[in-house]
Amino acid sequence: MNRTIKVYSTSQLLAQAAANQITQLLKSALGTRDRASLVLTGGSTPRRTYQVLAEQHQNSLDWQRIDVFFGDDRFVPHDHPESNYGMAAETLLEGIQPGAVYAIPTDEASPAAAAEAYEASIRSHFKNTRILFDVMLLGLGADAHIASLFPGSDDLEETERLVVASKAPEGSPVRDRITLTVPALNASRSVIFLVEGSKKQQAIRKTLHDGNTPAARIRPSGKIAWLVDEAAYPDHGESAR
Ligand code: 6PG
Repeated sequence: MNRTIKVYSTSQLLAQAAANQITQLLKSALGTRDRASLVLTGGSTPRRTYQVLAEQHQNSLDWQRIDVFFGDDRFVPHDHPESNYGMAAETLLEGIQPGAVYAIPTDEASPAAAAEAYEASIRSHFKNTRILFDVMLLGLGADAHIASLFPGSDDLEETERLVVASKAPEGSPVRDRITLTVPALNASRSVIFLVEGSKKQQAIRKTLHDGNTPAARIRPSGKIAWLVDEAAYPDHGESAR
């Protein structure tokens, strides 16, 4: 597995580096194909990166040739404060105006119906070509969950479907979720983990060193770049590998 880990002293440096890496990967994808795909993650960590992209990278590439997807969302309206789509629209999408945005349809009758509809839109986007996203952004929960795939969930064992309805643990702001599955997340030319804060220390360590976490199941055909801050990974010192 081609994995690199880069540690940044501040959130701003992390966001700048992430925005640069995302645009570099998308530009090289556009060098060989008409369009490229970017899968956004939710939560709070990526906000700063999205803002840097919207403010400093509007002209770094032809965003009209980029198709934006979501790795997961909460089953709430897009204008709900907990909506990942809403967060991305506010911090990123209005700034870069991508050619196409595939929002998870949280206005469907149920999470299961939304998952089914989203899977259909992904499959129809890729038509009869191999489903392969160019850049997959992921965050990391303090329990080492990714997207809305949580420790101990049967959803982690899904091998056929690309999108499922899942349940966040008790106490989560919104329990009903729609999420890409492990096979869908691994269908990526490159994965970028964005992780910051001391609360993530154990999740990172368990994922990188003993491998028995949801995040450890992310093994794309391409590269994995961990972009983390000092607080999340204080005992770093790992070189890129
Ligand atoms: C979500 C995200 C989720 C997130 C982690 C980390 O819908 O919440 O997709 O997987 O990346 O929970 O969230 P923070 O960045 O807020 O710590």
